[in-house]
Amino acid sequence: MTDRNIRRIAVVGTGVIGASWTALFLAKGFEVVATDPAPGAEAALYHFVQKAWPALERLGLSRNGSMQNLSFNANLAEALAGVDFVQENGPERIELKQKLYAQLDALLPPDVIIASSSSGLPMSQIQVGATSHPERCIIGHPFNPPHLIPLVELVAGEKTSKEAIDRADAFYTAIGRRTVRLNKEMPGHVANRLQGALAREVYYLVTEGVVSAADVDTALSWGPGLRWALMGNMMLNHLGGGPGGIEHFFEQFAGPMTHSWKSMGEPELTPEVQRRLIDSVHEEVGSRSIEELEAERDTLLLGLLELRTRYERTNAALAKAA
Ligand SMILES: NC(=O)c1ccc[n+]([C@@H]2O[C@H](COP(=O)([O-])OP(=O)(O)OC[C@H]3O[C@@H](n4cnc5c(N)ncnc54)[C@H](O)[C@@H]3O)[C@@H](O)[C@H]2O)c1
Repeated sequence: MTDRNIRRIAVVGTGVIGASWTALFLAKGFEVVATDPAPGAEAALYHFVQKAWPALERLGLSRNGSMQNLSFNANLAEALAGVDFVQENGPERIELKQKLYAQLDALLPPDVIIASSSSGLPMSQIQVGATSHPERCIIGHPFNPPHLIPLVELVAGEKTSKEAIDRADAFYTAIGRRTVRLNKEMPGHVANRLQGALAREVYYLVTEGVVSAADVDTALSWGPGLRWALMGNMMLNHLGGGPGGIEHFFEQFAGPMTHSWKSMGEPELTPEVQRRLIDSVHEEVGSRSIEELEAERDTLLLGLLELRTRYERTNAALAKAA
């Protein structure tokens, strides 16, 4: 596998995730050719990119970052001609992905990496379709929306080469993504499993009437959530132990913490339970529209991303000067 210089990227499937990747790749100065068989996909994609662009401008476009570098071609073979990297975002169905990977594998030169955005399908199963060069197929799983959220989880399948993972890692890192490599395949990868574990307890607490949706959301977003945006669980445990660090944290909390796990809920999302959760969310939302709430989320998120970028640039400059 040669170390191909990436200039032109194919985005295969331009729904929620593909459209967002497209906007990011354009902002980072790549030529993007997008492809999707759905009627109306092209117009929806251009609309999305235009809507996302002001936020990307605010975060800083790369030198050649431009919406003009986007083209759309519903014909897969034509779309793939001359591309250096593929980000695949087709529907989350294994038979469809396997069929699609057979086509991609047949149409692309062997040194073009095919990265799947799949949220939960194992690459070992997806790459069964790519009979000639399965070693270039990887999971490059983003968090919605990828044009704003930096995390990309990298997972190899049984037949993926280390070189493909290394090259994908270097590519995503170069465009400002934060990569995490999984050492083995896991249903739902990592970040979605973390969300799942939390959601299970949130639903339990609301269903049991311990708190309302509004209060559980306040408890999260004005409490641990503020810290989690800055440091993760492990580092915060280290700080939670005071001067004694993680060692003291476990001395003090390992017992009570594992004891409390026994009382954690496993709610069944029956239609009745869902109704109670839905009613509680609508009380929290009040008269605010989804658009208003999205605008609030994105404004705060952009501010946070800018803060973190400024902080890291200052730190890097100080480290260089030292
Ligand atoms: N939605 C999320 O929050 C999220 C987050 C991370 C990863 N993902 C993953 O991203 C992928 C896409 O999810 P989504 O939410 O964007 O779905 P989506 O339904 O919004 O988009 C899927 C797109 O694929 C297109 N498509 C159908 N058949 C195709 C084919 N043969 N070739 C190319 N495109 C085809 C569809 O027309 C549609 O536009 C999935 O694998 C999913 O697991 C989703």
